[in-house]
Amino acid sequence: MGDTAAACYIGLMSGTSLDGVDGVLCEFPADGRPTVRAFASAPFPHPLRADMLALNTSGEDELHRAALAANALSRLYAEVVESILHQASRSPQSVRAIGAHGQTVRHRPQAFDGTGYTLQIQNPALLAERTGIDVVADFRSRDVAAGGQGAPLVPAFHLDWFGGTGRHVALLNLGGIANLSLLPADGGASGFDCGPANALLDAWCQLHTGQDFDAGGAWGASGQVVEPLLAALLADPFFALSAPKSTGRDLFNRAWLDAHLQHFGTAAAVDVQATLAALTVRSAADALRRAAPATERLYVCGGGALNGHLMRGLAQALPGMAVASTDAIGLPPLQVEATAFAWLARRCIERRPGNLPLATGARGSRVLGAVYPA
Ligand SMILES: Nc1ncnc2c1ncn2[C@@H]1O[C@H](COP(=O)(O)OP(=O)(O)OP(=O)(O)O)[C@@H](O)[C@H]1O
Ligand SMILES: [Mg+2]
Repeated sequence: MGDTAAACYIGLMSGTSLDGVDGVLCEFPADGRPTVRAFASAPFPHPLRADMLALNTSGEDELHRAALAANALSRLYAEVVESILHQASRSPQSVRAIGAHGQTVRHRPQAFDGTGYTLQIQNPALLAERTGIDVVADFRSRDVAAGGQGAPLVPAFHLDWFGGTGRHVALLNLGGIANLSLLPADGGASGFDCGPANALLDAWCQLHTGQDFDAGGAWGASGQVVEPLLAALLADPFFALSAPKSTGRDLFNRAWLDAHLQHFGTAAAVDVQATLAALTVRSAADALRRAAPATERLYVCGGGALNGHLMRGLAQALPGMAVASTDAIGLPPLQVEATAFAWLARRCIERRPGNLPLATGARGSRVLGAVYPA
């Protein structure tokens, strides 16, 4: 292996769940289907997770703390790259570039001065230095500069990888935040963030059970949905906004949840977890029915695809639609986002646009990312 004509890229994703880093090595043949050749992941050490979470809100000496957290993240990225290369028996020289997402600590596109910003921290220079591979980073800023949300970026990739089936298909990524990609049978595509997912589920679960996440959704499944609380949460104006729209921990965080819970002080912790699961399901299902009622098949990716309680809820909320994980279409749910960043890195290196203006709201197609040569 290693001397085919296929271009080889690595994608690295660490999302808003703050669970860790997922990485893939992906081969793009000159023609024909690309293939994922290796996958590795590394959990965040708890201190790094705490540092990243703290950087989501302003605090003392945050430039210094952000710079050190970026270094720590890039060292973890380099470890994942090493593990991927080892698995695939590849040399660094055989990889054209790494697409590294970085860690979103603030997402306020088009806010404040009209341009706003979205901030994914990492140290791409350190990653290039440690791996000897070109690094593509900062994928979102150019879209924001062009008037867009800088998110979601995955719909363009979903269209390229999963589109063209002649059916009305949708993809739902259940990461920290949930986002939908709509792939209608006519070959078009759009997408938007639809609401919170694991960011809130994990936070509540950690607080009340000490576990990082609710495995299989079993704890939430054992509770009762608090319907008035669910209605209050769903009344947040974000859910009624029309696309393009994107969100993050800037909105859906513990403070947001606590503000609502003030009025439901007697709710049992397990029932709040059940309600947060129902919020994830309802907000995604409602948005999908509204935006693409003709959808025949919904494929779910991200860690939420491993949450049986969420998957059963989606199937119930969407009668008439077939609901399955992306395993059913050849890409395991934990590999989809990382593969998107391998794909986006290739688009950048080849100077081809990476955004889908219908999804981000940008004024047009743009080449995304900044290259840090090895
Ligand atoms: N077996 C499981 N059961 C329930 N939930 C799971 C399971 N495995 C993973 N998860 C959930 O998935 C989360 C991680 O998902 P993922 O890595 O896709 O999200 P992310 O890093 O936030 O990515 P992004 O925001 O970019 O979509 C975990 O924090 C956890 O909540
Ligand atoms: Mg993750």
